[in-house]
Amino acid sequence: MKNKTILITGGAGYIGSHANKMLNEKGYETVVLDNLVYGHKAFVQWGEFVLGDLADYDLLDMVLEHHSIDAVMHFAAYAYVGESVTNPEKYYYNNVVNTLNLLKAMRRHNVNQFIFSSSCATYGIPRKIPIPEDHSQIPINPYGQCKLIVENILHDYANAYDLKYVSLRYFNAAGADPDGKIGEAHEPETHLIPLILDAAFDKSKHISIFGADYNTPDGTCIRDYIHVNDLAQAHIRALEYLENGADSDVFNLGNGNGVSVREMIETARQVTGNTIRTIESSRRPGDPDILVGSAIKAIELLGWHPQYTDLKEIIETAWHWKLKSLF
Ligand SMILES: NC(=O)c1ccc[n+]([C@@H]2O[C@H](COP(=O)([O-])OP(=O)(O)OC[C@H]3O[C@@H](n4cnc5c(N)ncnc54)[C@H](O)[C@@H]3O)[C@@H](O)[C@H]2O)c1
Repeated sequence: MKNKTILITGGAGYIGSHANKMLNEKGYETVVLDNLVYGHKAFVQWGEFVLGDLADYDLLDMVLEHHSIDAVMHFAAYAYVGESVTNPEKYYYNNVVNTLNLLKAMRRHNVNQFIFSSSCATYGIPRKIPIPEDHSQIPINPYGQCKLIVENILHDYANAYDLKYVSLRYFNAAGADPDGKIGEAHEPETHLIPLILDAAFDKSKHISIFGADYNTPDGTCIRDYIHVNDLAQAHIRALEYLENGADSDVFNLGNGNGVSVREMIETARQVTGNTIRTIESSRRPGDPDILVGSAIKAIELLGWHPQYTDLKEIIETAWHWKLKSLF
């Protein structure tokens, strides 16, 4: 029997490249489509690579024509929350319109399984911690709006057409594959762990703490960090879930544990053995005190087993990759 073939949009990026690696290790065939605007060719070490943009409908048509794709994992998107506020057009076009393009090409070629990278940003300011999937969704920035719009589009398409989907609402992706071949390298980087590790690596750098007066035990924001390989594993579980005939659904993916910015810095000091300079500055607009998700539904229904529950271990994998790759 032929192995299943998965189209991975954004598979040269951070999370998509980890999913690509794991899919190949599990015996799937993969085709990675990425425009390399933010991704890295060097991260595509498995499967076939197609350089191209989701805005190019003819290319999507050709890729789906020439590869017998069984399912799509859609990671490709722009993901800078601040930029989505100053340049919403860039986000609505790429994250919404281009997703419609992809869904249109999928319909044309009868590809009807879709795993979508959604986000905890769809919830907005939490009313309840840990956040369950049925929490109200009132995004506070265009990035979160785009993710919510796509979730709603998927809901409507699944009702009307032959489409099954799983939307996975990630909390903060973290760490790197322990092999050290791929990791997190955004340019510009805005994520906490790589910035802290930069400051640990290069004594001339520091980490900014944006706000030390939040309503949390140490005054800094609390977030939920989930290892990138645990996210990759959840994608494969979601795919199997649909293959087994389950209905379309939505799942949170998080650790269920909150970690403050100060705790993260302190743990990174222990892992790296280096000093890390910090500078306290003012709050950024729109940062809630605490964002922690409940992933019980994914654990129960998808049979998801997150492997990295220890923060130290998560940071170790990111540090290992940083030292090995010098990205
Ligand atoms: N990193 C996180 O913590 C996090 C949290 C929640 C949700 N997400 C979502 O997960 C997905 C992956 O995130 P990531 O951190 O790996 O981001 P990333 O920027 O590393 O990867 C995204 C990839 O998509 C590619 N891409 C973007 N637009 C494209 C287009 N039009 N055509 C082809 N390729 C395109 C980029 O070049 C990049 O390689 C995104 O959808 C993001 O919104 C990420």
